[in-house]
Amino acid sequence: MAGVHGDPAKLTSMRWQTAIVIVGVAVAVFGLTGGDDSYPVVPATLGTPDPTRIRWPDDEPATAAQIELGRHLFFDPRLSASKTISCASCHDPDQGFSDGMAKGLGASGERLARNTPGLSNVGFGTLFFWDGRADSLEQQALGPITNLQEMALPSEAIVPRLQTVPGYRDGFARAYDDGLNLTNVTRALAAFERTLISRDSPFDRYAAGEREALSPEARRGLSLFVGEANCIACHRGPNFTNDAFHNVGLADQRDPGRSAIVAGASLQAAFKTPSLRNVALTAPYFHDGSIQTLEEVIRMYEKGGLAHPRDPLLKPIGLTASEQRDLVAFLHGLTSPITVTRPPAFPDATMQGAP
Ligand code: HEC
Ligand code: HEC
Repeated sequence: MAGVHGDPAKLTSMRWQTAIVIVGVAVAVFGLTGGDDSYPVVPATLGTPDPTRIRWPDDEPATAAQIELGRHLFFDPRLSASKTISCASCHDPDQGFSDGMAKGLGASGERLARNTPGLSNVGFGTLFFWDGRADSLEQQALGPITNLQEMALPSEAIVPRLQTVPGYRDGFARAYDDGLNLTNVTRALAAFERTLISRDSPFDRYAAGEREALSPEARRGLSLFVGEANCIACHRGPNFTNDAFHNVGLADQRDPGRSAIVAGASLQAAFKTPSLRNVALTAPYFHDGSIQTLEEVIRMYEKGGLAHPRDPLLKPIGLTASEQRDLVAFLHGLTSPITVTRPPAFPDATMQGAP
C-alpha cells in the first residue's frame, strides 16, 4: 500500500484500472440485456404479419378481378333488404373497419347483441365472430346479409337481386367459371377481406430495427406487455391473438359466448382474443362494447378483471399510473390504417340507358 501511495505513476494506473473495470461491468450488464433496457428486444412470438401466410381456401389466392368484385359488394347497400346498409356501414374503413358504437345498429334500427369488431388482418384468423362460430370468412359472409337484425336479405333473394345489376352479372361471369351464384358472392367478399392487411405500424418499424419508431413510453409499454403485465399470454403472434377463447371478467357475464358453441365450464362468457392491430381506431372495446377507452381497458386488466369467473391467467397486475400510460402508448404503436377506396357503385340496370 505504501508503495502505491508513494508512486504517482502506479496510482494513476490503478485509477485507470478501476475505471476500466467499472466501464466493463456496465457494458456487460447492459450488453446482456440487449443493448439497454430502454430498447426492449421484440420477442419472436410477436413480429410482423407475413402476407404469404394469409389463409386462402385450397392455398389459392384470389384473382384481382375476384377481389375487385368483393370490394364492390362490401360497399354495396343493395346487399341489404332495405338497400340502406352495406358491410362498410358497420365495418367503416375510417374507423378501423368498426363503427364506433358499443353495439352495432342493424337495418331496422335495432341494437345488435355485440360490438362490431374491426377487420384489420382478419384473413390471418382461424375462427370468426366473437364466439368463433364460423370457421372461414366464406362461411361468415352470409351471416350478416341474411341476419334479420343486420342486412335482412334472405339468401334466395341475393343472387336475383345482383343479377339485375349488369356490373355484377358480367363481372362474376368473367371472374368465376360458374359465374354469379351464392357461393361466389361469399368467395368474393372473403377475397376482399383477406386484402385488409396492416403491417407497417410504428411497432413493425421498431421490430425491423428502426429504434426510434416507438417513443420511450411505447417502448416501456412493450416491455410491460411482454413482461410484468403478461398481455402476451393471450395477445401473441404477429396479430397479437392466440385465436383462443377467454373470459376476461367483464362486469356483465350474461352472454354465454363460446360456451354456446362448444360445451365447457371454462368457456362460459369466454370470447375470442381479438387482434390488437389498429386497436386505437376501434373504440369502444370488448364483445359488449362496455369499455370506452384504452386507458379504461388497462385499468380493467390492472385490477385483474371486474367480475368472476375469469380466466386464471388474469390477476391484478400492480401497475403504476405511468406504467398504465406506457401500455396505452404501446397499443397506439400498433396503428397502421388500411386505406381502401369506396368504389363507384355499379349502376342499376334501369339506369343504363338503352343502347
Ligand atoms: C349491422 C352491422 C353489421 C353489418 C351490416 C355487417 N357486420 Fe360484420 N359484424 C358485425 C358484428 C356486430 C359482428 C360480431 C358478431 C358476433 O361476433 O356475434 C360482426 C362480425 C364480422 C366478422 C368477424 C370478424 C372476426 O374477427 O371474427 C366479419 C369477417 C364480418 N363481420 C364481415 C362482414 C361482412 C363481409 C359484411 C357484409 C356482408 C358485414 N360484416 C356486415 C356487424 C355488422
Ligand atoms: C387471458 C387472456 C388475455 C390476457 C392475459 C389479456 N387479454 Fe386482452 N383480451 C382477451 C380477450 C379474450 C379479449 C376479448 C374479451 C371479450 O370481449 O369478452 C381481450 C380484449 C382486449 C382488448 C379489446 C380489443 C377490442 O377490439 O375490443 C384490448 C385493448 C386488450 N385485450 C389488451 C390487453 C392488454 C394490454 C393486456 C395486458 C395487460 C391483455 N389484453 C391481456 C384476452 C386476454
